[in-house]
Order: sequence, then structure tokens, then C-alpha cells
Amino acid sequence: MLAARALRFAHGSRTILDDATIVVDDADRAALVGDNGAGKSTLLAILAGLQKADDGGVERGRGQTLALLSQEPQLDARLTAREVAESTGREPWEVDEALSRLGVVDADRPVSSLSGGQRRRVDLARTLLLRSDILLLDEPTNHLDKAAIAWLVERLKTHRGPVIIVSHDRQFLDETCTRVIELARGKLHGYAPPGDDNTTLTISFIEQKILRDDITVRTQHKKERLWLRELAWLRAGTPARTTKQTARIDRAGELQTFVEEEAVAIRKQKKNVEIEGVTSKRLGKSIFELNKVTLARGGRTLFADLDLIVTKGQRWGVVGDNGAGKTSLLLALMTAAGDSAALIASDAGAPEEQQVTPSSGMITAGLNTKIAVFDQHRATLDPEMTLEQTLSAENDHVFVNDARIHVSSYLERFLFDGSDRKRRVKTLSGGEQNRLVFARLFLGDANVLLLDEPTNDLDVTTLGVLEEALVSHPGCAFLVSHDRRFLDRVATGILAFERDAKDPDGPATVTPVIGDWTHYERTQAARLQERSLSTSASSSSASTAKIAGAVAVAKKKRSYKEEQEFLGMESLIHDKEARREHLRSQLIDPEVFKSDVKKADAMAKELAALDVEIDRLYARWQLLSDLPAM
Ligand SMILES: Nc1ncnc2c1ncn2[C@@H]1O[C@H](COP(=O)(O)OP(=O)(O)OP(=O)(O)O)[C@@H](O)[C@H]1O
Ligand SMILES: [Mg+2]
Repeated sequence: MLAARALRFAHGSRTILDDATIVVDDADRAALVGDNGAGKSTLLAILAGLQKADDGGVERGRGQTLALLSQEPQLDARLTAREVAESTGREPWEVDEALSRLGVVDADRPVSSLSGGQRRRVDLARTLLLRSDILLLDEPTNHLDKAAIAWLVERLKTHRGPVIIVSHDRQFLDETCTRVIELARGKLHGYAPPGDDNTTLTISFIEQKILRDDITVRTQHKKERLWLRELAWLRAGTPARTTKQTARIDRAGELQTFVEEEAVAIRKQKKNVEIEGVTSKRLGKSIFELNKVTLARGGRTLFADLDLIVTKGQRWGVVGDNGAGKTSLLLALMTAAGDSAALIASDAGAPEEQQVTPSSGMITAGLNTKIAVFDQHRATLDPEMTLEQTLSAENDHVFVNDARIHVSSYLERFLFDGSDRKRRVKTLSGGEQNRLVFARLFLGDANVLLLDEPTNDLDVTTLGVLEEALVSHPGCAFLVSHDRRFLDRVATGILAFERDAKDPDGPATVTPVIGDWTHYERTQAARLQERSLSTSASSSSASTAKIAGAVAVAKKKRSYKEEQEFLGMESLIHDKEARREHLRSQLIDPEVFKSDVKKADAMAKELAALDVEIDRLYARWQLLSDLPAM
């Protein structure tokens, strides 16, 4: 049992906790949610006894030990990762298991030389290995890939004793936690667990929250709209909608209609890739051209033969397992652009390791290509500087798209208080610091934004600000993210690093798929099947012969070639339709014709040709689907 009783805490005049009370039982795994800066990390520090409350008390079950994973790793930098893990006193096999399951790659390197993401994983391994009764975890899934998260979920589910988890990863919370506690305006509120199996923990929480706050439809301010928007997207991802659930929603009056309208509005907004306030001279035509690019690092081929032309308005969601080469691709782009300033912020170890050139093929950067990198670990923030100093070196103004704006107004766009400009960076919470890094990222005139896991630590409001900033950014962006809902909202294409399940250490296949994450996922199965068919056909002549033989016997079935064509067709049609959709949305914009008549003309021609082609494909698909499968 872990209890907080009437806790009070303030930073100067800023009240963080105001009579905060909660009990977490041994069987409880509680999700602690709240806006960035609400005081979640502060509360965990007080519960762990690292920070003293101004008033009130903390109680634990008799003899219970406690471990805290902080938002910022707390490690002895001189030790190696393995030594840190071994300091918990666990058996070597257990240490090895935790390190490898959590994706720590260089266990024998000193912690000081590890990237921020690696350090977090080491800290998580250490925290779990302590086998404490009470676990307090601040954003544990940041920097973990799917496999590591799955392992963590299992581990936590079998944990006996109170667990409190701060996370913005809703899927993770749904899988792990039994209840939600919200920290808002200094108070803790417990929420009832979902009433039925078809409602997830977080959907149920948001529904209760919206009802509790008595948000009346169509009169909300921005923040509340964001909650509704969040709900709309969570729901869109849950196929099983029972009548029971619907009935509950109806109690909230027009809420459902509103939520659906919101979802449509978001999709629309996403399609209108705005190209606002930018002279096309600054953006060269293509920003990058990748020609049969193969990347190898440490003697291992990461991926081969990637062809890609990157132009403005594209936002590529880069997805795939840890170690598949996503970060290396970003580094290769930076190296090709000769943008050494950009390198500083990256999460890829020592500077010499950050120069990555293709082992074959070529990356050409456009004349005006200028990169800005999202500093995920906030390494470039000086904790002693004020917000104002961080954004503008000389005076109290900043330049955004050549317009001069006062720092206070600019800060307000990123949800700060105008008066915050005099605060020091070190007094900001983790999420607030990220917001500041975003504010700085969108200041420059870069036409390529590289963001590695940008949504970590962000609350739904900040996420909305980031999404809006990205969608209205005139250049292109690469977004490495595991957050599918984020990708659905902002990505115009998915760059998927897929590895063969039978050969997980082998090179990845990188496939660019136009469209959002949902489209990518929908077409993934067909693509993989197509690929495995074509590789097994080429690698094993015996099996090809067998298949060919079978076709010869039963003539009326689809031939091997037709079967292959049929399997690939769905994804082909989807891709073509996505392309058509993309062209249509581009051509809606009158600016396209004004700025580049030739290009617009070419796009219109391509669109007409696509219409014919898609009709043909549908007809062909119909014909093939009428034949029995081979
Ligand atoms: N030394 C300080 N002086 C003044 N305010 C501070 C100081 N340290 C923290 N704060 C403020 O205390 C509040 C709570 O911070 P805390 O780190 O606990 O938030 P959080 O809920 O963990 O946020 P996040 O989701 O961003 O991690 C924030 O508004 C932060 O700006
Ligand atoms: Mg925090």
C-alpha cells in the first residue's frame, strides 16, 4: 500500500500540490496522468522521499521497499551499463536478460558515453532489477521499441505491490494499468475502472473526465476541444464498439456527433498541406534525392537500395524496430547536407559516429537544404538560461518566417505564459522543456525537420500545438515515432523499416508508402506476403518448380504469375488511390498553379492518368478474384 495524505507543495508562489490525497493498494497499477507541468514528477519524488512536502504525509505498507524511475536518468556516469545493473545484486543471467530485453546494446560502455535513450533503458533495467515492492515509473516507455514495451508490460502485470506509472503512451497504460489517477490543479482524482471489456482504461477515463467536467458541446475552449479530439481518435482505433458503449456516449448528448465531426475536421486539416508565407525560391525543388542508397554500420548492412525523392510538404513517418537503421538514415541525410550544426543535437553517440555516408548509392541534397533537429534529450538547453535567452540571443524579439515577433507572443503560441520569458530553463518540467525545444525548432528557416520520438512526455494539449506547427511548416519532415495516432494525424507517408522475422539481424527492407499509418498498416500484410512470395520464388528454384507444376495441372485456377499479381493488387490500388488523393488535395490549393504552372500541369496530367489506371486495376482485380486461388 502507498498513500499520500493531504500533501501540499509549492515552488515559491506556484502551488503544485494542494491537499493531494490518494491510496494505491498492493493490487493497483495506477496510471498517473496530468498536463505537462501539473506536478506528476514532483509528486513521485515526494512519494519516494526524495523531495520533502510542505505539509501532509506519505505512508507505505509495513516493510515495503520502493524504487523510482525518474524522468531524467539518475546514474553514476563512471560505471558501465552492466555495472549499473549488477549493482542491484541480481544474478548475472537476470542482469543480462533485463539489459537485452530492454535493448541496451553497449552494456560494457560507460554510461557517460551512451546516448540519452540508452541511458534511460539502463535506468529502467536497474529500477526493475531492484525488485522493490513499490514501483514509481516516470515515462518508462520512452525510447523503447515494441518488443521491449511488450516485455515491460508482462513484467509489470505480474508485479505484486503498488505501481504508479506516469506515461503519455495510452496504449501502454491500457495494457498495464488497472485504474487512472489524475493530477489537476494540485488535487488528485481517482477514476472508476472501465465498466466493460470493450472500453479501454484511457477511453473510459477521458469519457468520465469529459462528463465530470460537464463540458457542454460547442462552447468549449481549445483545451477541451483537444480532449474531445483525443477521444475521437482513441475511438477510431477501437473497432469493437458495443451498443452499451454507445448508450453511455449518448448520455452526453451530442457528444458523439461532435466527436465524429472533429475527426473529420482533423482529417481535412491534415490533407490541406498548407504552404503558408513561404517564397518558393527558398525551397529548392527536391530537398533530397536518394538513389539506390545502402547503409552499413559496424560491418552490418542496415538496409539496401532505397530510392526516395523528398520534396516540401512531405512528412515521412519513420517506423521500425530499434536498431533497424532509422537514426542512421537521419544521420546520413545530415551528413549529405553537410549540416554539422545539426549534428550536435542528435542521439547517436560521439560526433565521429554521427558522420554516416552510404556504402553504395547516393544521397544528393538540394541547394537550399537546411536541417533542424529536434533535441529530444534537451541536451542543447542551458538550464541556467532564461526562456528568452534560449530563443533569442540578442534582444526580446524573434523572427518567424521573416516576421518580427515579441518573445512573449511567440512563447504564448507554445502555451507558455508571456511572463515566463524571465524564468530559468531549470525550473521547467520535462514536458515544458520539450515545448521550449519545439519553440526553438520552428524559429529558424530550416526546410527539413528531423524529429526522433517527438511525442515522448507530451500531454494532449502540447501534442496539438506540435501537430499544428508541423502541418503548417513549409518544408518537409522526418518523424521517427512509435505513436501511431500522431502519425495518423501528421504523416503524409510512412517510411517503413521492416525486417524479416526469420532473420531479425539481417538488413531491413525500407518501403516508402504514401498515406498515413492506418493506410500503411492496412496494406502491410499484403505487402509482406508479396515480398516473401517473390523472395521464396527467386531463392528456391525447387519450390518454384513445384508451384509451376501445380498450376499446370489445374488450368482454371490463377497462374503463379496471376496469383502474385493478385496478392499485390490491393496494396497497389491503395497506393495509387493515396497518390490520387494526394494530388487532388494539392491541386485544390490555388497557390500550386500560381507558384509553379509546369508542375501543377504535370500533376493534373498524372491525376487524369491515375483515374484511368485505377479503373483498369479494379477491373483486373475483379477478373482475377473470380478465378479460384491456386
Ligand atoms: N525550481 C522551480 N521553481 C519554480 N517552478 C518550478 C521549479 N521546479 C519545477 N517547477 C514547476 O513545477 C511544476 C511541476 O513540475 P513537474 O516536473 O512535477 O511536472 P510534471 O507533471 O512532471 O510535468 P511533465 O509532464 O512535463 O513531466 C511545473 O509547472 C514546473 O514549471
Ligand atoms: Mg514530469
